[in-house]
Amino acid sequence: MSNGNKIKIGIIGAGNIGGVHAQEFSKLSELCEITTITDAYLPLAQQKAAQYGIKTVAGSPEELIASSDVDAVVIGVPNQLHAPLAVQAIEAGKHVLLEKPMGINSEAARQILKASSGSDRIVMVGHQMRWEAVPMAIKEQVERGELGKIYTAKTGWFRRKGIPGWGTWFTRMDQSGGGPLIDIGVHMLDLALYLMGNPKPVSVYGATYAEFGPKRKGIGTWGRPDWNGHYDVEDLATALIKMEDGSTLSLEVSWAVHMDTDNTPFIHLMGTEGGASYKGGTGKLLTEKFDRPLETPLARPENDEGERARLSRHFLECIQSGKQPITSALSGYTNNLILDAIYESSRTGHEVILNWDLN
Ligand SMILES: NC(=O)c1ccc[n+]([C@@H]2O[C@H](COP(=O)([O-])OP(=O)(O)OC[C@H]3O[C@@H](n4cnc5c(N)ncnc54)[C@H](O)[C@@H]3O)[C@@H](O)[C@H]2O)c1
Repeated sequence: MSNGNKIKIGIIGAGNIGGVHAQEFSKLSELCEITTITDAYLPLAQQKAAQYGIKTVAGSPEELIASSDVDAVVIGVPNQLHAPLAVQAIEAGKHVLLEKPMGINSEAARQILKASSGSDRIVMVGHQMRWEAVPMAIKEQVERGELGKIYTAKTGWFRRKGIPGWGTWFTRMDQSGGGPLIDIGVHMLDLALYLMGNPKPVSVYGATYAEFGPKRKGIGTWGRPDWNGHYDVEDLATALIKMEDGSTLSLEVSWAVHMDTDNTPFIHLMGTEGGASYKGGTGKLLTEKFDRPLETPLARPENDEGERARLSRHFLECIQSGKQPITSALSGYTNNLILDAIYESSRTGHEVILNWDLN
């Protein structure tokens, strides 16, 4: 690392999330400098470079990864490119912050995990919800034992009319790996497992449906539709995940559904001594006192710097200290293993036993 002690960052992908990372890392200029950016559509990379004062626009991801002016690579491109680019970056000696889902499937995630486990480079997945104020407060209570044993949990996110980028990579199986399950479900799965204390998942039963997308219904506002493209992913998924310690997690998500939904992500943790609920940035702790139910509200503090700032700082601190990020490659692989099993269970109609053999 040169340039004083500042970490030099290169961003691959100047789309929606690439722009978010550029904005967040540019606020941490005492710790890092974004030196390089690239995108398959170079004018977009040039525009972001001008906006955030990034000095170099690389002609390709390969050029960016090979650059000696880059210590850490941020990957914000369609899902099928995560594993090839992450493995290439790790092998070139770069640290990697990778957007979710870690892989387009568990095989891709396994390749990243293998590359990272043979290396001292930091590999972190961008699950920013773990750094939201309310989930952090819930995690603290869980770790203090206030909930007792969490024996079951429910999580999900029902969007009534929220199919992103119809016809673009979002709705093409070969580029995204799936619909709402891999897009927003992976955030909820990741956060719920983390708050439950990372129990080991052992089996999955699931079902997926596509009732809106193929009919070009349920279109949302994220991403611009490409009506020349196609839609071959699910628009709703439901699953039950069983853990080695006997606990269970139910996961339900949709991009589009006829349902009375407020379109917000939720988690309910049910423990022997208490419960906790998270709903779209707010939350509650649920206990009992003198035989009466007691609710303690949790809210995001005023002037909160936000989860994305904390995520970005965590990545930089892990690089500096060499400690494992909380959203490690192993946690990304675990998520992908479960997602694959939900799709397989839906296809076969049977429960799927997770295969943890990494070889
Ligand atoms: N953490 C979150 O909440 C969150 C939110 C949105 C997206 N994401 C993830 O970020 C990733 C990108 O999503 P997005 O919404 O930014 O999509 P997007 O379509 O807005 O941006 C993707 C960019 O990648 C570029 N690209 C495609 N192929 C490329 C290649 N071979 N080399 C270089 N650039 C290439 C495209 O030109 C585009 O600008 C996805 O994996 C998505 O799941 C995460």
